[in-house]
Amino acid sequence: MVKRVVLAYSGGLDTSVAVRWMTDELGVEVIALSVDVGQSSDDWDVVRERALAAGAVEALVVDAREEFARDYCMPALKANALYEGRYPLVSALSRPVIVKHLVATARLHGADAVAHGCTGKGNDQVRFEVSTRALAPDLEVLAPVRSWGMTREDCILYAYDHGIPITATKEKRYSIDDNLWGRTIECGEMEDPWAVPPRGIWLLTEPTATEPVDLVVSFREGVPVALDGEEMTPAQLVTALNERVGAYGWGRIDMVENRRVGIKSRETYECPGSLALVMAHADLEAICLERDLQREKLRLETRYAELVYDGLWFSPLKQALDAFVDESQRFVTGDVRLHLSPGSCQVTGRRSDHSLYDYSLATYDSGDRFRHEDAAGFVRLWGLNIETWASVQGGDRW
Ligand code: ARG
Repeated sequence: MVKRVVLAYSGGLDTSVAVRWMTDELGVEVIALSVDVGQSSDDWDVVRERALAAGAVEALVVDAREEFARDYCMPALKANALYEGRYPLVSALSRPVIVKHLVATARLHGADAVAHGCTGKGNDQVRFEVSTRALAPDLEVLAPVRSWGMTREDCILYAYDHGIPITATKEKRYSIDDNLWGRTIECGEMEDPWAVPPRGIWLLTEPTATEPVDLVVSFREGVPVALDGEEMTPAQLVTALNERVGAYGWGRIDMVENRRVGIKSRETYECPGSLALVMAHADLEAICLERDLQREKLRLETRYAELVYDGLWFSPLKQALDAFVDESQRFVTGDVRLHLSPGSCQVTGRRSDHSLYDYSLATYDSGDRFRHEDAAGFVRLWGLNIETWASVQGGDRW
């Protein structure tokens, strides 16, 4: 029998009702834990008070912003991780760090279970539960929202009846999640994949800047360390880039993606900082990585993103891929120039002391070092098999 539960608490309607519902229906003590991963709009004092008002025996907040940026966002950046080629894994990256703190809190407070407020249709339940199983197989995982069978209206009535302070209205238009790595907006009219996302949903990418500007991002072994020469921690740097790039209205994604649970869903994201960083980082790799290493890494990046998306952050394959990625980053040190103008963010230059770009080989000017006489024989042998095939079997297909 579960006696004490640590709930991942956001301060929203579902998790607030979950505090009371688990207390009353399951007879457990609920410790509410809110993990600050850089959500844009939360006043943590208000969130704590709300958890206590809902009946939590304890309400805790941990500031995990630097940890999240350093140990979760940066590895994903080194892997240029974009799910289905586009989504920088905003929510998928935050769940494992939240779970880490849920488990640590459960240990500290002698809890025998953790709980989350996810529904049964999304990816986040997968990430919470698989991550918990990986870190603490002995802990139970409770998913009250998935099992209680209440509609949104029922929840609002429940909150009202039990004196739980909430700000929700009957019409919940969107499901929003955000952290340092970006912001996700789903539901409402956007459930029609043809519908144009309403203007009001954007927060980080409202265009306000008009003057074009250049920005230099400096990387050390694959990790961004400075903006325009100013050294910053990963969390500071991502925050600064969100503001600076977002001001140009750049960083929006509108896509239909494949969820782990078999549903296709229409998603909108705004990720100015993370998308700019992935673009800059991949560009720097183009001069710092030897060809075969670069190509193999490109192939593995897809797999890396899938693993993270599918809730397998804490898994042996992900661990092994991290080792490969880290090894690949030894010489990824240098600068990338980004040019920002309304609606656009583009790389306009890259440089590195470890650059494999060799001017004397690449130039079309006279006096290059490339051995032109070697080319003829090389090309002949490269195509020798094709020549043989064409003379015996080919020739009549085209
Ligand atoms: N589709 C994205 C993902 O699976 C965003 C999920 C947002 N989560 C949420 N509870 N609103 O990573």
